[in-house]
Amino acid sequence: MVTDSLKGKTILLGITGGIAAYKAAALCSKLVQSGAAVHVIMTESAAKFITPLTLQTLSRNPVHTDTFDERDPAVVSHIDLADRADLVVVAPATANILAKLAWGMADDMLSTTLLATRAPLLIAPAMNVHMYAHPAVQHNMSLLSQRGVRFVEPGTGQLACGYVGKGRLAEPEDIVQAVHQWFNPHVQTQGQPQPLKGRKVLVTAGGTVERIDPVRYITNDSSGKMGIAIAEAARNLGAEVTLVAGRVSAALPDGMRIIHVESAEDMLKAVLTEMADSDIVIKAAAVADYRPVVRHDAKMKKKDSTLTLELEKTTDILEEAGRRKQHQLLVGFAAETGNLEHYAMDKLRRKNCDLIAANDVSIEGAGFNGDTNILHLFDRSGSVAEWPLLSKREAADRLMILLSERLKRRDAGEEQ
Ligand code: CTP
Repeated sequence: MVTDSLKGKTILLGITGGIAAYKAAALCSKLVQSGAAVHVIMTESAAKFITPLTLQTLSRNPVHTDTFDERDPAVVSHIDLADRADLVVVAPATANILAKLAWGMADDMLSTTLLATRAPLLIAPAMNVHMYAHPAVQHNMSLLSQRGVRFVEPGTGQLACGYVGKGRLAEPEDIVQAVHQWFNPHVQTQGQPQPLKGRKVLVTAGGTVERIDPVRYITNDSSGKMGIAIAEAARNLGAEVTLVAGRVSAALPDGMRIIHVESAEDMLKAVLTEMADSDIVIKAAAVADYRPVVRHDAKMKKKDSTLTLELEKTTDILEEAGRRKQHQLLVGFAAETGNLEHYAMDKLRRKNCDLIAANDVSIEGAGFNGDTNILHLFDRSGSVAEWPLLSKREAADRLMILLSERLKRRDAGEEQ
């Protein structure tokens, strides 16, 4: 970590009440060591796990816990702190603070300041594995992501509550790394090879939403995790990444440009606009094949005992990208239930792709929505790689490394 690299930056550190609050002391200390001015707000529950005096000593600034404890008559503390921050970090963030922030509640010093600030937010959640996986928590995180909040994902391991699973606060070093990346998105992690430096990578992720009326739509089970992992892997290898995100249930990553889209039509426009100067285009999104012919402006009323919805084909984005492709490496996905090679090769040819990453969604661990995948890769010559069950992150790393090597070989004029 470069010392003084956060010099001149004011960071507001919010600490909420979980056992991981003790790790916030190390985080605070590392931020101060990097040169940042750190101001700490603790919730009442956080102060039950770690004392404000510890944070005051480490931050060298008074610690705030009470909205009405106004020490300087010249300013209103929560507004002053909100205005001064270049970045707000909440670590650890409980399910409670995520819910409060998602729904705009302001009933203590931290939640009030979070609403008052216009500074970007970086949140490191920590909680019990089942709480973290709860749809309410995931929904709140997704809402916050859509508003531009960045997350540092919790780790997997032994939790203080006795369970083993995802929910452990990211290590202070990783949170500091995310802070550095926020301020310097193009400065990469030390020591990591950068084979995609100077390359532009376009990735689509998630499902599309095809509206029937203002409150109803057709969508699918895609979580967006595979596409997001690919975008992160590309970023970590030095690429400039644009992520076109449909409906996703995972947190969106930082250090890249994110374009939010809803329908297949929106995604098509975004991809066609962005692909021109991309070196690699990866279509990991689960695009609806059909959309309602009519989109009603008012909520449809129920009438007869049956209802027939007429659907029409959406444009196949990958196929359209295949038609327009010039220098780009075009990668498609094929989610199948058997006959993998046959369908993958058919898609590869039909959509003019350079590579198809196929998975058999009928096999456990290779389906939608999970954290793992089993990928079988095909190019024009046939099968090029067959990987075992891997975490989506590991599969994404392997895919991006393979693509960076192909790009290098192609630039050197070698055959693929
Ligand atoms: N795809 C796309 N636009 C669509 C449909 C699919 O860009 N309207 C892309 C997906 O992002 C994926 C690839 O095409 O990269 C394959 O998607 P899939 O749904 O498996 O293939 P389809 O061509 O729709 O074939 P089928 O549903 O018949 O299997």
